[in-house]
Amino acid sequence: MAGDPAKDTAFSLAHISDPHISCIGDIRVGQLLNKRLFGYLKWRLHRRAEHRDSILSALQDDLSHSNPDHIAVTGDLTHLSLPAEFRKSRQWLESLGTPARVTVIPGNHDTYVKTVWQQTLAHWTDYMVSDETDQDNDSATNFESIFPSLRVRGRIALIGVCTAHPTAPHLAVGRIGDIQLQKLETLLASTAKRHLFRVLMIHHPPAPGIVSWRKRLTDAAALRALLARYGAELVLHGHAHKIDQCYLKIPGGRIPVMGVPSASALGRTPQRRARYYTYYITPGASDWRLRLAGRVYSPDENRFIPEHEHQL
Ligand SMILES: [Fe+2]
Repeated sequence: MAGDPAKDTAFSLAHISDPHISCIGDIRVGQLLNKRLFGYLKWRLHRRAEHRDSILSALQDDLSHSNPDHIAVTGDLTHLSLPAEFRKSRQWLESLGTPARVTVIPGNHDTYVKTVWQQTLAHWTDYMVSDETDQDNDSATNFESIFPSLRVRGRIALIGVCTAHPTAPHLAVGRIGDIQLQKLETLLASTAKRHLFRVLMIHHPPAPGIVSWRKRLTDAAALRALLARYGAELVLHGHAHKIDQCYLKIPGGRIPVMGVPSASALGRTPQRRARYYTYYITPGASDWRLRLAGRVYSPDENRFIPEHEHQL
C-alpha cells in the first residue's frame, strides 16, 4: 500500500472467515453415523460446488501481495470437523502466516460433532491462545482454557470469543456462556483502561436480524449488554456467508459490526462471493480512524480485485 501515507502508518488487519475446508473425498462411512450425515448430504447437493480450494489459493496469493500486519480468521475453517479437515486447515493457516500474525477463533462447523481435541482443535492451539499464556499445544485441551483470548499487537487488542459447541442436526446456534462472559467483562474493561483499539472476534453475529433463529447466538443480548457498558471499537464476525455491515448503538456512540462472506465461496449471488476486508486503524488526536478496503474474488480473472474503500 505504498504511496498512501495514511495507510503506510496505519495498522492493517485483514478479516477472513468461513473457508469450510473439506476432505470429503476421503470420508469413511463410520464417520457419517451422526450429525455429519446431514452436513455431508448438504455438501454433495450444494456446498461442494460453492466452496473451492482454487479460491483459497487465489486468496493466499492476494494476501501475500497486500501483506497485512495481521489476519483475523473468524471460524468455520472446517466443514464436518473431520480430523483430516483440521490437518488440512492447519496447513492453510501456515500458508497465511505464523501463529503470531494470524489469530483464529472456531465456528459451529469446527464443533459439528463432539470430537477428540488432540485429533482436531489441538492443530490450531498456537493460532488461538492468548499472548500471555503458559499454555502450549499439550496443556490447552478445551475451549474453556483458551477463551476469551487476548492478543495485543501495537495498540490493537484482538479479543477472541468462542461461540462454538455441538448442536442438534437442524441447528447452527452459538453460545458464549456465563463463565466466558464474566472473563470477557474483565478483558473489555482492562483493555479499555489501556486505551487499546479493541477488536472483538466472534463467529456468530451479535447484532439482531442478521441470521435466522436456527443460526442465532443464544446469549447475544448478554453480549450486547457488555458492549453497551464497556464498548469495543470493532466487532468482526462470520457465519452469515454474506456481506453484513451494521452498527451496534451503545451509550455515547456506536460499534461497527462487520461480517464477511466465506473466503472460499463462488457465490450464488454477488453478495455471497468470497471477499476479505482489510481495516486500516490509525490513532487520531482524540479518537481512532478506521478505514475499510474490500477485495472480492473475480471468477472471470480467478483472482481477488479491489471492490470498495471507505471510512467507518
Ligand atoms: Fe460457515
